Amino acid sequence: MTSVPVLTIDGPSGSGKGTICRAVADRLGWHYLDSGALYRAVGLASAWEGVDLSDPEAVAACAARTEIRFEDDASGEPRVIVNGKDATHQLRMETAGAAASAIAAHPPVRAVLLALQKGFRRPPGLIADGRDMGTVVFPDSRYKVFLTASAAERAKRRHKQLKDKGVSVNLDSLLHEIAARDERDAGRAVAPLRPAEDAVIVDSTGMPITEVIERVLAVLPDSLRRR
Ligand code: C5P
Repeated sequence: MTSVPVLTIDGPSGSGKGTICRAVADRLGWHYLDSGALYRAVGLASAWEGVDLSDPEAVAACAARTEIRFEDDASGEPRVIVNGKDATHQLRMETAGAAASAIAAHPPVRAVLLALQKGFRRPPGLIADGRDMGTVVFPDSRYKVFLTASAAERAKRRHKQLKDKGVSVNLDSLLHEIAARDERDAGRAVAPLRPAEDAVIVDSTGMPITEVIERVLAVLPDSLRRR
């Protein structure tokens, strides 16, 4: 399957990866892997089962038995189904992000999710969204982006995103939580958040979405940019 093209888009939380990746996947007609949702789902399933989040082997066992499905509902909205339950809303909460970040530091958990993520590489191509897509999961990909933005802008975007979903959160505490999560993601020993050496860095601070999409698409050769 290594001949199937993958465009990896890594970056910190709130950098707009989700929106950009979906738009780019739509434009190209490629598949989309939201790897963060896998880590969030495992964090959530562990909490449901009362698994100790600090126990790497117990969480890895939970990851192996958790069934995660990505679906679009009748209006085309993406849904994430965890063990048969629609967990879309719960997964977007910052508590789920924090749980994901905690369990994501365990090597056995990452090992379970590695094979699952590689399986998303299917024709005609894959947009892979995460922290280690270009460095660990698809290191052989020829097209890599590291998408970032200032911490203040990322907190503002997350705040708006949650507000639009009817969740009220304090901007300052969100900024705090995002900074703490970034620090943990970048500082962990296994698959830390960092740009691949061959990644194109796109700083989207103050940049309209349309321009970010164009910058990302520009990483691909003409032959792949055409549907
Ligand atoms: O991207 P998202 O905010 O949904 O990711 C939630 C958490 O999952 C991240 O903070 C990170 O700790 C973890 N994660 C990861 N590797 C990925 C994607 C997400 O470690 N490829």
